[in-house]
Amino acid sequence: MLVTGASGTTGSRVAAQLVARGVAVTAANRSGASPHGTHGIRFDWYDRSTHETALADVDGAYLIPPSRDADPQAAMAPFLERARAAGVRRVVLLSNAVTSLGGPGSGAVHQAIAGMFDEWAVLRPSWFMQNVTGNHLLAQSIRARHAITTATRNGRVGFVDAHDIARVAVEALLAPAPLNTDLILTGPEALSYDDVAAILTDISGQTITHVHRHRGPHDRRCGTDHRLRPSVVPCIRGRRVPALTRPSPTVTSHPSLEPVRSFR
Ligand SMILES: NC(=O)c1ccc[n+]([C@@H]2O[C@H](COP(=O)([O-])OP(=O)(O)OC[C@H]3O[C@@H](n4cnc5c(N)ncnc54)[C@H](OP(=O)(O)O)[C@@H]3O)[C@@H](O)[C@H]2O)c1
Repeated sequence: MLVTGASGTTGSRVAAQLVARGVAVTAANRSGASPHGTHGIRFDWYDRSTHETALADVDGAYLIPPSRDADPQAAMAPFLERARAAGVRRVVLLSNAVTSLGGPGSGAVHQAIAGMFDEWAVLRPSWFMQNVTGNHLLAQSIRARHAITTATRNGRVGFVDAHDIARVAVEALLAPAPLNTDLILTGPEALSYDDVAAILTDISGQTITHVHRHRGPHDRRCGTDHRLRPSVVPCIRGRRVPALTRPSPTVTSHPSLEPVRSFR
């Protein structure tokens, strides 16, 4: 199984969970890092000379579009063509909750893989819980200023844990029957950034404040102090992102599976 973005937030978890299930994993990213138990290779969406190695002995692939590229399909198309020609049977794409088939950015990749592969799935998660940890700009703001600055008012988000996204990805890759659909993934509860600040304060013992910023004429973005594309505006202000559903009930709510992780 090929896992792109294998050093990243979801890819590392997908790789680890596949390895735990005895699947041989080719871990792909620009650094060539190989998470425990994987075969790491250097891979760059923009460097076609790295594509052939990534596809050796690969049956299925977890795909993370190149970040901060407004048109990821342009970069991914040559690889997807090559993957299909090489006999890759199933692909699972990470998109996001506010971008549907044919939409901007990963919506075009969604459309492409649905047309190219007989077996596919697109995961459309809400905001990651991991945005408040690690190197995410939101986390940096929390550490540096003990503050989350947004213009989201009381808009709520169904934050989802990357571990749960990976669980769905692994099922989508390994299930006997292909899903051939997209799945919106959220966590178990909808939280405003006031709620997030309160939880972080409670857990850390350090006062974390949600600073409400007024939306200005140039504030066409989501309003948080991390960089977000204009296309995600409705997720905060409106209700386009389902806030209270659990991650992919059809995939992860089987009684034998562990419960979905909460923000705490
Ligand atoms: N954060 C959220 O709340 C949220 C919500 C919904 C959807 N998403 C989506 O999640 C995606 C990011 O997934 P993630 O958080 O799991 O990854 P991530 O932590 O941002 O890491 C990105 C991974 O991709 C690799 N990478 C970056 N540029 C590359 C390139 N040109 N060629 C090959 N590999 C490259 C990186 O490794 P190297 O640097 O070594 O190459 C790394 O392994 C984005 O598409 C975003 O839209 C995020």
